[in-house]
Amino acid sequence: MLLFAGFSQAPRPSRFPELFLLTRHPPLGLLPRRRPQQTRSITVDGEGPNRPREGRLIPKPEVPCYPVHNDLRLLTAGRGADNGDQDKGLFGIGPAFFTTAGKTALAWAFRASGLQPGAAVLLPAYHCLAMVEPLPWLGLKPVFYRLHEDLSIDYAALEARLDERCKALVAVHYFGFPQDGPRLREFCTQHGLSLIEDCAHSFFGHRGEERLGSFGDFAIGSLPKFFPVGSGGCLVSARRPLPPEPLAAPGSLADLRSLVRDLQTTHYYGRLRPLGPITTGTAALLKALSLLGLGRDMAGLRDTPASLDYGAGRMGGTIQRACNPGEIAARRRENYRTICQALAGQPGINPVKPELEEGIVPYMVPLRIPALRRVFAQLEDRAVPMQRFGQFLSTELDDALCPVSSDLSHHGLQLPCHQSLLPEEIQWMIDRLCEICAAGRG
Ligand SMILES: Cc1ncc(COP(=O)(O)O)c(C=O)c1O
Repeated sequence: MLLFAGFSQAPRPSRFPELFLLTRHPPLGLLPRRRPQQTRSITVDGEGPNRPREGRLIPKPEVPCYPVHNDLRLLTAGRGADNGDQDKGLFGIGPAFFTTAGKTALAWAFRASGLQPGAAVLLPAYHCLAMVEPLPWLGLKPVFYRLHEDLSIDYAALEARLDERCKALVAVHYFGFPQDGPRLREFCTQHGLSLIEDCAHSFFGHRGEERLGSFGDFAIGSLPKFFPVGSGGCLVSARRPLPPEPLAAPGSLADLRSLVRDLQTTHYYGRLRPLGPITTGTAALLKALSLLGLGRDMAGLRDTPASLDYGAGRMGGTIQRACNPGEIAARRRENYRTICQALAGQPGINPVKPELEEGIVPYMVPLRIPALRRVFAQLEDRAVPMQRFGQFLSTELDDALCPVSSDLSHHGLQLPCHQSLLPEEIQWMIDRLCEICAAGRG
């Protein structure tokens, strides 16, 4: 029998309160779990630019770094959800063209912009390798541009990088904090560039009256950063036609496999545990079917150009119906503020954006940690949930071009503030970070 109970968070507006399953929270104890799922560190920090290299085994984060299912809303495909005319983020801009990931959405933005092999794309010096990866797939070249200390675009430096090969510009609203959209629009129109707004960190949010994603010729999103799904991306446009045909559906078995993976992560973090036996049984069945050669495993395509030919599966549409944007925005903002307040004045930890202005729906809390090189391995070993955006920069970037990006690749770390975090998880994460950073200042 499934047990239903109220959830230990603030009440949430839903037509399905009875579907909040009894949860057992993760242990959050003094030591990492005894048998954690192992993952491999790719971090070996040294002098000069960081380069990925396989390191030692480390535990899976003790607290979910990305959203997980806290209730059954997405699993019931949003039936009964009435999200009215809430701000739907990128989905409010127009119909979405679903892709396997944010990076494949970027590739489709380049294609939809009509870029031909040999063309160059202006990319920010502060980037992740996933943003650069699709360029060689399409025969495109990156030209990097510099940012100011607050991560806004340095337009004088950008103009100096322009040449006749440059056909498109990718701009990122880092961690949800907006670039100056009207200025970007004007710059790109003036120089005949296609403007691609990379909204991987800013699925929701406004700058003044304007929705992020509405300035660009195209905007892309990365679904797992804002919703409890393991993969998926989308391309939208307020101004230009999208590719006319949706991409091939990965198929029902592939959809089921992704759902089972999402649920396994969800159970690992102590949520929806009564569904565990069903998840385990379905995982075993899928394994048997794949041994018989049935059902495509999309995970195998993840880093290949073949992933360009597939869509996001059913979850893309389900998210559109079932997500509650107002709730996601409010929780993320509240968590962001809680974390910044708790970290204010903590030795060895400097929030990069301590003020959360109106309209911003944050992706993560960006921090600068001067002693990061010394403490990072400890943070990994202690299973602190975190991300290091821009830790590894393209080998084609001149390290001297943008001192801010080089600095953040060594000292930048982000903590999650997503909507699925529980108050005790936030506290646990803050306590561990403070402890380790205070001890490591040396
Ligand atoms: C700014 C930015 N753009 C694009 C991407 C690529 O998104 P995905 O991981 O969904 O491929 C990422 C991924 O971290 C990102 O941070």
